[in-house]
Amino acid sequence: MPNMRPLTVVILAAGAGKRLKSSLAKVCHKLAGEPLIKHVIRTVQKLNPVSISIVVGHKKEQVINECKEFPVSIVEQKQQQGTAHAANVAIEGLTKDSRVLILFGDVPLISFATLEKFLEMSSSFNLGLILANKDDPAGYGRVIRDQDNNISAIVEQKDANELQLKIQEIFTGILCIGVEKFKKWYPELSNDNAQGEYYLPDLVYAALKENESIASFTVKNEFEIEGINTRLQLASSEKKYQKVLAEKFMEEGVTFLDYEHVYFRGDVEIGKDCLVDFNVLIDNTVIEDNVTIGANCVIKNSSIKSGTIIEPNTYIDGSTIAENCQIGPFARTRPGTILHADVKIGNFVEIKNSEIHPNSKINHLSYIGDTLVMENVNIGAGTITCNFDGANKHKTEIHENAFIGSGTQLVAPVKIGRNSTIGAGSTITKDVPDNELAITRTSQKIVANWQRPKKMRK
Ligand code: UD1
Ligand code: MG
Repeated sequence: MPNMRPLTVVILAAGAGKRLKSSLAKVCHKLAGEPLIKHVIRTVQKLNPVSISIVVGHKKEQVINECKEFPVSIVEQKQQQGTAHAANVAIEGLTKDSRVLILFGDVPLISFATLEKFLEMSSSFNLGLILANKDDPAGYGRVIRDQDNNISAIVEQKDANELQLKIQEIFTGILCIGVEKFKKWYPELSNDNAQGEYYLPDLVYAALKENESIASFTVKNEFEIEGINTRLQLASSEKKYQKVLAEKFMEEGVTFLDYEHVYFRGDVEIGKDCLVDFNVLIDNTVIEDNVTIGANCVIKNSSIKSGTIIEPNTYIDGSTIAENCQIGPFARTRPGTILHADVKIGNFVEIKNSEIHPNSKINHLSYIGDTLVMENVNIGAGTITCNFDGANKHKTEIHENAFIGSGTQLVAPVKIGRNSTIGAGSTITKDVPDNELAITRTSQKIVANWQRPKKMRK
């Protein structure tokens, strides 16, 4: 039974990508923060194929580097002689009883749902194609149909005549073929065309010669099948995809005050009843329910628990933020920041590699680095942890209920005891015991009858 054939996947990624004019391989360019090739690999993994082969060639080290986290096999196409030639390099090693889904690394947004439906409807055919209708078909292979509306050819842009160029039905580059048939038909292909290449869509001719019927599946969501060949296509796909992601989050219960000006990269999760203001970038971050994010925030590689409010113009990176915190406006948390529940971080505060326990407050103009801050600590404006001696980093500890007066420098390594108070303007270089006041300020002098200097007259 043909539909019992095991499924294998081949992704073509060996082409030069000339139209991008880039020193980076085409499939390594990023869409929503992820290289194009990774989008394709992640999607096909969900189909649970027997194997996934990636055909590499041009700038192969870059492509292999992006694929190394996945269980895929790498096959090299030494000379780029066209898409059918590339597919053959991978299919040569496959067993005849399987069928192979061939995808292009530069068509990154094809969805799992589309592939699943396509594989299902084409399962008993030896050749199945994914097609689409495009308002602007420029650059794509055009689908030619006969009087009975059956597919008779796919003609590349460069080989098409004027009439054919007007056709809006296009080949997406994604097809499924029985391995046995591919091995039979491939040697019949010719490279007598405008590019002197062996074209994958020419398999149509070989199939028709044998009176094989061809399955075709038309994709409705145009953005899924956008091929990325130019910087403009990359930018326009990014824009469309961002809108699709925003729509998905809105369906899941997120409010965007301006959904065309929020940006998502990498793996992003956003919980219900979150409110996101305009011009916000969320990159590889998990956000729980009821979080508010003000305008102009960048949040990356972080997690934020429910009820937290991020005020405008805040930059959060590599941070773990618990429930009901308030951060910003104009705050920066750097990698290694851990905020427990109900912590307040105010404007112009920078935190790095530090853990802040519940109910502690750092409200204004401070740098806290390599520091452990326990519960209910109040750190006054302009406090600096001097964590770097020019050669090494040192730790600061500030224990429960401590009160650090404004304008204090804590020279690490140093430990501030529970319930202790540091007088404003102090430079603390030694540990402070629990319950005590430490102050290093010089005492105030009053200079009697002192006069301000007067401007000298010439
Ligand atoms: C291709 C299709 C076209 C389709 C369009 C969809 C062919 C001949 N044309 O055109 O019908 O409408 O995609 O986006 O198939 N590659 C190799 N080795 C090669 C050549 C290409 O691995 O020798 C890879 C490229 O890296 C790329 C993919 O195959 O990932 C497609 O090649 P590309 O040059 O982008 O073809 P298009 O002109 O877009
Ligand atoms: Mg292409």
